[in-house]
Amino acid sequence: MKNRPNRSSAVFRNWHLSSSVRSRPYAYGFSSADFSQAEPELWFPVVLSPALSHESSESLSKPELLRAHLYHLVYFMDYTTALEMTHVNQAINCMVSGDLERYFDEGERRTALKLYADEGYHALFSREIADQVASHFGLLRMKSARLERLDQVVRESPLEFRCLTRFCIAFVSETLITHELYKLSRESLVTPVAHMLSDHLHDEGRHAIFFSDCFARLWSQIAIREKDYIVQVIIQVLAVFGRPDIIFLHLVFKSRPDIGVKVADGLEANWVKRMPEISEMTLRAIQATDLLDDEIYFSKFNAAGLVF
Ligand SMILES: [Fe+2]
Ligand SMILES: [Fe+2]
Repeated sequence: MKNRPNRSSAVFRNWHLSSSVRSRPYAYGFSSADFSQAEPELWFPVVLSPALSHESSESLSKPELLRAHLYHLVYFMDYTTALEMTHVNQAINCMVSGDLERYFDEGERRTALKLYADEGYHALFSREIADQVASHFGLLRMKSARLERLDQVVRESPLEFRCLTRFCIAFVSETLITHELYKLSRESLVTPVAHMLSDHLHDEGRHAIFFSDCFARLWSQIAIREKDYIVQVIIQVLAVFGRPDIIFLHLVFKSRPDIGVKVADGLEANWVKRMPEISEMTLRAIQATDLLDDEIYFSKFNAAGLVF
């Protein structure tokens, strides 16, 4: 391990006073004035969606564009609720009382429980936002392809490595999400959406530090065959986070399938190129360990287009 400052315990020291669940007022209810906002960008910023920023989306009419943005918001919220419960908190379960417990000390396991509480709250307010918007605008709900693929990664993992697999998924998602939410929270948005994003981001900065430190902690203790496994799973999980969700795109562009096809083809052709950018925080955490000093591991990350 290249550096071992105890950043996690420092950033979680005031959790009882500063975490969203303990300190932020409930501000996620939509008023009729909120629902009357007709500017698509106020519901979901273009910067976060390669589909909405694709040049073909420019030919959508304003009502079509509004619906596309609303669909993105509900989809992202439903995804967040499920991810927090079925992946991040399952990984924390492994760290607190499962197969990974032995790699972490008592203080780290207690900090992990603070994250567990945070993620439960994020799951709740994301669900509340999604329910209100979907019901007001009559939007269909669907499970994201990313979640289907993450579930598959877990299902296909050997039982003895199940918790390691879960840890890799949480590590990748917790380091990527800060980047996503940060881009989102700088935009001007409908008030409850803005509150939800800023409250979520408020916690996730801490979570990214915690999972980066835990990754370094775990990496320094596991055996070679576990390291071989982790490297392969992290690359696999990063790809899951990069790949577009074609079924969702067909739903978003249902009224304009001609545009939907162009957007889907464009995203399918380009997602690998975007990988170094979206993986930046994860790669930074990996670079704090000696993982990439190993020639074979480096060549695997290099072959996946992640490092050069
Ligand atoms: Fe979260
Ligand atoms: Fe988190």
